[in-house]
Amino acid sequence: MKFALVKNNKELGERAFFEIKQVLDAKPDAVIGFATGSTPLPLYAKMVDDYKKNGTSYKAVRAVNLDEYVGLDAKDKNSYARFMRENLFDHIDILPENTDIPNGMAQDLEAECARYSEMLSVTPRDIQILGIGANGHIGFNEPYTKKDSTTHIVSLTARTRADNAAGFKNPAAVPIYALTMGISEILAAKKIILLATGEKKAQAIYDMLRAREDLSCPATALRGHPDVTVILDKEAASLLKFDEWTPAE
Ligand code: GLP
Repeated sequence: MKFALVKNNKELGERAFFEIKQVLDAKPDAVIGFATGSTPLPLYAKMVDDYKKNGTSYKAVRAVNLDEYVGLDAKDKNSYARFMRENLFDHIDILPENTDIPNGMAQDLEAECARYSEMLSVTPRDIQILGIGANGHIGFNEPYTKKDSTTHIVSLTARTRADNAAGFKNPAAVPIYALTMGISEILAAKKIILLATGEKKAQAIYDMLRAREDLSCPATALRGHPDVTVILDKEAASLLKFDEWTPAE
């Protein structure tokens, strides 16, 4: 695992974009795994800005997302489908038909998980963007999710629902269930960048590196991946010691 320490959100966006751009330069039809949450927003802002200024094209790119709430349709302001359109897809030249996200409104959620897993198995990701939950979740893989999991239905923990309540009427309005890409599917990406900012993420980052690999912190699964770059600020890195670091180029 490599680490890049950044001073602020702007630098986080630029550093993460550097990784995406490298992938795109080598392969304009790359498959990118996208994440939601507030942490990757500076990256998406940078991608939009770069698209407007430099015209980096996403016409040939395919996008797959990590997760979606059950029961929210793509128009709902809290759905991850809408989040991606509003914060990125509507502002670059990616083709809507080249984007995919689990459908939390599917009649048969198990069948939707099977569809998504099947799609992922034939759509290998060149780069996967990840955030991290305060409890160490990646995507919506909550503590004790198995490492060999594929896309599945999750029952969200009380902590995750409370952490994700901003934007909902009240914490009780946060959906109880979600669909998420499984840990084995996240690990299948060739390259992973994990973004973390703020003191709230410090324990999760520490656990990702140091906790026993017993699945209580799902992000520990990333230790086995050959190409992970963690981009984080001083606050998120505050529980790490410098000798634990391998700086990213
Ligand atoms: C949600 C998403 C995760 C994301 C996490 C952190 O739970 N499912 O993919 O990493 O939020 O969000 P934030 O970046 O807002 O802290």
